[in-house]
Amino acid sequence: MHHYSPIILPLSLLALTVLLMCTTEFRLPSFFSSCQTAILTNNSVIRSMTKPGLRILVGVLTTADRYERRQLIRLAYSQQHGTYHDAEVDVRFVFCSLSKEEQSVLVTLEILQYNDIIILNCTENMNNGKTYEYFSSVPKLFSDRSYNYVMKCDDDTYLRIGNLVESLRNKSREDVYYGLVNPCFRADDMDYKMNSSFMSGLGYVLSWDLAEWIAESEIAQNNTDGPEDIMLASWLNTAKKGRNRYHNFPGIYDYKGDSPDETCYRHAFIPETIAVHLLKGNLEWARTLQYFNATKGLKPSKLYHVPSWPINQ
Ligand SMILES: *[C@@H]1O[C@H](CO)[C@@H](O)[C@H](O)[C@H]1NC(C)=O
Ligand SMILES: *[C@@H]1O[C@H](CO)[C@@H](O)[C@H](O)[C@H]1NC(C)=O
Ligand SMILES: *[C@@H]1O[C@H](CO)[C@@H](O)[C@H](O)[C@H]1NC(C)=O
Ligand SMILES: *[C@@H]1O[C@H](CO)[C@@H](O)[C@H](O)[C@H]1NC(C)=O
Ligand SMILES: *[C@@H]1O[C@H](CO)[C@@H](O)[C@H](O)[C@H]1NC(C)=O
Ligand SMILES: *[C@@H]1O[C@H](CO)[C@@H](O)[C@H](O)[C@H]1NC(C)=O
Repeated sequence: MHHYSPIILPLSLLALTVLLMCTTEFRLPSFFSSCQTAILTNNSVIRSMTKPGLRILVGVLTTADRYERRQLIRLAYSQQHGTYHDAEVDVRFVFCSLSKEEQSVLVTLEILQYNDIIILNCTENMNNGKTYEYFSSVPKLFSDRSYNYVMKCDDDTYLRIGNLVESLRNKSREDVYYGLVNPCFRADDMDYKMNSSFMSGLGYVLSWDLAEWIAESEIAQNNTDGPEDIMLASWLNTAKKGRNRYHNFPGIYDYKGDSPDETCYRHAFIPETIAVHLLKGNLEWARTLQYFNATKGLKPSKLYHVPSWPINQ
């Protein structure tokens, strides 16, 4: 069905050349701008190929000892390649300072292999400032990456990265606070409920300017103790920040499992999923990944036999 007009083809070849020439930009950020200004054209195809439309940093907050979970999450996202076009989404694992002998070796090996770990300068905790440490550190750590958004998510949350990207694509890039409003609601009264509540800690997104603001704000720095998602909302509300709020019902929800009742928070899988939370163990992850067809690519082989199970919500 693809039809290449005589104009598009040379343009895409040029775009490809430019893309190849500019690949070093990702390692040598200072080359980026000179590479871009060298393109003497105003063709949006080329610009969108050289400059990602959207850059998102996803921090999965976890602890150093959760080696198996990290490996599972890497596997889960390895099956989502190519689903988000021109967007760049970097998934990083985030934890506090290493404190055990074996971590220094085992975590180092992971860094050598995957380079997807951020170790903050803190003592491991959930509700005593780790989230503050994360958001206030990333502007400095990634001052050269020009991310548009930074996300915090839990290590029992699975993201549909393509859907996340598509849902952010037409949103504001500034002053954004995006997630699942708690207490969850289905419709109406958006204004009122948005102002009086917070985005659930399972996974929420801030625009980069808000991370920069957190890094400098005494309001944030002075109020780090308490449930992290509530504290974050209280900083924004106090400072009248995060005025672009996006409530993502029903795309963000808790895993329903065998539980018979649905709530605003908890329902069966849906194709438009952005995030599913409460994947506490391997079985919950497996059922989720099966629903999203993660294993469809398996080829028959005499080397293995994999029994199939009925789809289980
Ligand atoms: C480039 O193209 C965009 C969209 O077509 C247009 O708005 C803009 O004015 C153009 N810029 C220049 C420098 O020609
Ligand atoms: C980590 O934080 C502590 C307490 O704020 C500080 O004393 C120490 O110098 C920091 N370490 C590093 C490596 O930045
Ligand atoms: C963004 O897209 C959604 C879904 O397609 C639509 O409902 C919404 O109005 C769009 N927002 C803007 C600002 O274009
Ligand atoms: C909620 O916040 C918005 C933006 O700050 C404001 O315009 C609106 O009046 C507020 N609504 C209520 C019910 O406080
Ligand atoms: C933050 O705490 C410091 C030290 O206690 C105090 O001087 C400052 O006024 C506080 N700032 C805010 C915005 O509360
Ligand atoms: C998984 O694959 C089946 C069969 O191809 C399809 O009907 C279904 O929509 C897919 N599920 C999702 C969530 O994409």
